[in-house]
Amino acid sequence: MYGVYVHVPWCRIRCPYCAFVVDTRRRPADESWRDRVLLDWERERGHFVGSPTTLSFGGGTPSRADPAVLAAVARVVGATGEVSMEANPEDVRTETLASWRDLGMTRLSLGVQTFGDRLAPQLGRAHSSRQARSALTLVQAAGFESTSVDLIFGLPDQRPEDLAGDLRVVLDHGVPHVSLYGLSIEPGTRYEADKREVIDDDRWRSLHDVAVDMLEAEGLQRYEVSNFARAGHRSVHNEHYWRGRHWAGLGPGAHGWRPCGVRVANAADVEAWLSGQPPDEERASAEALFFELVWSTLRHVEGVDVGLLAVATGISAVVPAEYERAGLVRWRAGMLVLEPAGFVLVDGIAAGIAAASTKNLQ
Ligand SMILES: C[S@@+](CC[C@H](N)C(=O)[O-])C[C@H]1O[C@@H](n2cnc3c(N)ncnc32)[C@H](O)[C@@H]1O
Ligand code: SF4
Repeated sequence: MYGVYVHVPWCRIRCPYCAFVVDTRRRPADESWRDRVLLDWERERGHFVGSPTTLSFGGGTPSRADPAVLAAVARVVGATGEVSMEANPEDVRTETLASWRDLGMTRLSLGVQTFGDRLAPQLGRAHSSRQARSALTLVQAAGFESTSVDLIFGLPDQRPEDLAGDLRVVLDHGVPHVSLYGLSIEPGTRYEADKREVIDDDRWRSLHDVAVDMLEAEGLQRYEVSNFARAGHRSVHNEHYWRGRHWAGLGPGAHGWRPCGVRVANAADVEAWLSGQPPDEERASAEALFFELVWSTLRHVEGVDVGLLAVATGISAVVPAEYERAGLVRWRAGMLVLEPAGFVLVDGIAAGIAAASTKNLQ
């Protein structure tokens, strides 16, 4: 069981908070991108057994690519299950939705970030709030098996009622999945150059709590730190990352993890990748693999399978007793799972478990 991630770097503009691998050329180099992605797939497919269960086009902005090149990649990769893509509101029209449906997309994730007219300009998005709302209406009517909306919270003057308003729009449109990311200030972004700071912990916490309470009250389960879904609407592809499964990464800057344990990182410079620069390949040390598996699986509601972790890494998990005492984690049928209070501290908890588990190894 494995997935394929395909990175589509094209964007109209670079948003001031975004550090992803992005290319803002006026005309996307669609055919060169397709040919190069298919070479990445030729290189990777031999490392995996059988067909992938999922295919995910992420970005960048997959909705900016010619649907014909997405279709060509989807045909060759031949995923047996979920085929998903990220779309930006300014690209959503009845015709584009129809072409994405025709090429076999089962799931569409709309990147909105905020519907609020007061806050949207801060995020420097290429779409207006009105455009985002009408795009969402079209997406919901287009007949995908599942849909999702990405929102960001933690903008400097965002009030809990602003975030509640964003969530209300999403819920009123009947969207069954929400990805809700706390704003981070990433190296190399305009936000960093402008010396923006993240909001203080108390304000961050009040925004976070409003959102979690509202989504859960409406029947969307928090199944990963930043992801909420109704039954049957989880992102099957992203669950590969959070359940410690393998995946192939195609496209500039994409990462993959082969079943043999080798990590692959494609060139993040789009021109270098287009002109054939080979990826970095590295077999992670047992300690690095242990940390990554704890970090990625603890964030999922089903938690860490410490038995499988020991088999995969040769390291037995040691969980500092204070985490259980403080109500951050608990044991459930051999799995270590987060308590609600642990979700906001997951990175520190994972680091603490990794440090306690590996400290006597050298
Ligand atoms: C790289 S974007 C690609 C999707 C699409 N191009 C868009 O703009 O919505 C994926 C998601 O990452 C999140 N994201 C990007 N930069 C972020 C940041 N600095 N802090 C929090 N979330 C961020 C946004 O929610 C975004 O929807
Ligand atoms: S947030 Fe999305 S649209 Fe904006 S630069 Fe990043 S990938 Fe492109």
